[in-house]
Amino acid sequence: MNPLDGERVLLGVTGGIAAYKSVQLARLLVQAGATVKVVMTESARRFVGELSFQAVTGQPVVHDLYGADAADGMAHIDLTRWAGHFIVAPATAHLLARTAHGLADDLLTNLLLAWEGRLILAPAMNRAMWQHPATQANVRLLQERGVVVAGPGRGDLACGETGEGRMLEPETLADYIRPSIEPALQGRHVLITAGPTVEAIDPVRYLSNRSSGRMGYALARAARDAGAAVTLISGPTHLQAPAEITTLSVQSAEDMHEAVMQALPCDVFIGAAAVADYRLPEPAPQKLKKSSDTLALNLVRNPDIIHAVAQSGQAGFVVGFAAETRQVETHARDKLARKGLDMIVANPVDGKDTGFDVDYNQGLIIDTQRSIALEPQPKWRMARKIIEAIAERLKTGE
Ligand SMILES: Cc1cc2nc3c(=O)[nH]c(=O)nc-3n(C[C@H](O)[C@H](O)[C@H](O)COP(=O)(O)O)c2cc1C
Repeated sequence: MNPLDGERVLLGVTGGIAAYKSVQLARLLVQAGATVKVVMTESARRFVGELSFQAVTGQPVVHDLYGADAADGMAHIDLTRWAGHFIVAPATAHLLARTAHGLADDLLTNLLLAWEGRLILAPAMNRAMWQHPATQANVRLLQERGVVVAGPGRGDLACGETGEGRMLEPETLADYIRPSIEPALQGRHVLITAGPTVEAIDPVRYLSNRSSGRMGYALARAARDAGAAVTLISGPTHLQAPAEITTLSVQSAEDMHEAVMQALPCDVFIGAAAVADYRLPEPAPQKLKKSSDTLALNLVRNPDIIHAVAQSGQAGFVVGFAAETRQVETHARDKLARKGLDMIVANPVDGKDTGFDVDYNQGLIIDTQRSIALEPQPKWRMARKIIEAIAERLKTGE
């Protein structure tokens, strides 16, 4: 069971240094469950051998417009009928120009013209090539037509310069391939908090918790895949920022509270962050010294973010999380009522195979009418089920 099971991806590879990274992209997509077919330009074949792609995808690589690649000799359109997704990575300046102007002088550009679905292009080139008015005009034209231009990022470039032009990392590009699930949240704004908060004690120490942010990030992706415009407000995590999601990084509960209030209104709010309940009113300006055997920290309550959101009247549907170590359902039902939530996801965090800082979770979706048990499963799958349950409630008018 994988997030991209059953998805068919066409991966175009063009002639830039970053072509070697696309082998990793193909691998990640295959690992996520997708079937990947690679189409290379003649220039791309000078940078990477087709055998590498063939080995990681288990599929023949095609490049020849007039070759016998397709049984009926219609490779230049056949592959677009087969595919559910089309990404070109890296996309050279030349490929951007050809696509913008509808040229079709090789197999890849013929396929691009015959493609009617969502197209993702991941540019990669020297900084000056990227900034050239011709490239910028081509990119604008492509974007106006609805093409998703993924990147480029900033950083060290293969040419020795530093700047904008670097292809996004394969992990990020793989996240642009969205599973084909029902667009049940199309047109909705979903606001999600994730991860822990950190509360400063002094300039080097802090209070925090074991939340990794994975459940909140999985929910953000699932909401995005269901068609929502997603804002993710995240405490410090080691996770990669999800593609096509507005992600804001915060530190403390107070920062998170402020960011959430500014991001309202929303149709759905999901409070998946493990917000610290307490903080030091005044963190010490200097590092605390080891001067006595005991140290007492006087803590004050942090703002109750989810309660504030529910009270604000600016969130159509409010979902909370209850991470509990005992009497999970009882505590969750109490929290649902006390905070005025529409739904709560209760999950036991016993520190073993599910819960905090692991890829699996389990629990119960509880609302005023019913509860749905979620058996232990990967967080991405549980996230999809939670999003489905929310979408169903929105559809039935709450
Ligand atoms: C060593 C080398 C590296 C190159 N790297 C890039 C690159 O990163 N991005 C780019 O747009 N073009 C790059 N080029 C130029 C392209 O290979 C060239 O424009 C080619 O015509 C692209 O063809 P294609 O788009 O059909 O693959 C590079 C060329 C060479 C010789």
